[in-house]
Amino acid sequence: MSTIDKDQYIIKEEPYYSPLEDEIELYEAAYKAKLPVMVKGPTGCGKSRFIEHMAWKLGKPLITVACNEDMTASDLVGRYLLDADGTRWLDGPLTTAARIGAICYLDEVVEARQDTTVVIHPLTDHRRTLPLDKKGELIDAHPDFQLVISYNPGYQSLMKDLKQSTKQRFVGFDFDYATAQVEADIVCKETGIDNENALKLVKIGETARNLKGHGLDEGISTRLLVYAANLINQGIAPTKACRMALVRPITDDADIRGTLDHAIDAIFA
Ligand SMILES: Nc1ncnc2c1ncn2[C@@H]1O[C@H](COP(=O)(O)OP(=O)(O)OP(=O)(O)O)[C@@H](O)[C@H]1O
Ligand SMILES: [Mg+2]
Repeated sequence: MSTIDKDQYIIKEEPYYSPLEDEIELYEAAYKAKLPVMVKGPTGCGKSRFIEHMAWKLGKPLITVACNEDMTASDLVGRYLLDADGTRWLDGPLTTAARIGAICYLDEVVEARQDTTVVIHPLTDHRRTLPLDKKGELIDAHPDFQLVISYNPGYQSLMKDLKQSTKQRFVGFDFDYATAQVEADIVCKETGIDNENALKLVKIGETARNLKGHGLDEGISTRLLVYAANLINQGIAPTKACRMALVRPITDDADIRGTLDHAIDAIFA
């Protein structure tokens, strides 16, 4: 399988990542110890960006797979395809990653069907193997291979939660929104907006995060703060940009919208 172009999965430019604590150091240790990693936290708080940054820092290829409920083990592992010359085996992304020694990031892994856990188990314990049942091949994972999964705690139903036997194959990182000044720095760096406006956006974010559990399922993500800043950079009035980016997407509840709209007007007054 020397035909795989490993280079296409290498991240050439440093993905900007502002550390929240000592997660960079901890991740490096987990990678060196060949431990699979689970990243947990609310949407848009920097999980994917962190993994991209780490893959770049370690100089390893990164293969990201967005999992969904229709995804089967074959979508990860590979399948036989029918073409003019007969059947041909095509590696799935997990198989490619195990062969070339990539970091394989399974985003939202709980969404995937249960049979996918069967294939990740032997890859995530001392065996580090991937059985391609349909092909009758057993792959020994490349020494550089690492499996990373992401997981939004609280979103999934009990039915969809990972089994303990799966969870207990990973070390875990808890992610959350950055503290106010760090989050403002992130918004500035990502968008070029000034610090004063970035801090105002962060303040609106905080207001919404305090409403979590009191009518909101989830606070405003850093991603949405970045969206709002991008709209402001387009010349949109901040109050309008905030309504559009920070309020309309997250709730249809008239009272909560009213509260947030009011906070926006007060903060940008
Ligand atoms: N620590 C950080 N450093 C740099 N940028 C960040 C950081 N945290 C969040 N961001 C910004 O927030 C955006 C969303 O982050 P990211 O895509 O990593 O979220 P996520 O946690 O993977 O969300 P999801 O669970 O929805 O996939 C990024 O595109 C980036 O602009
Ligand atoms: Mg993500």
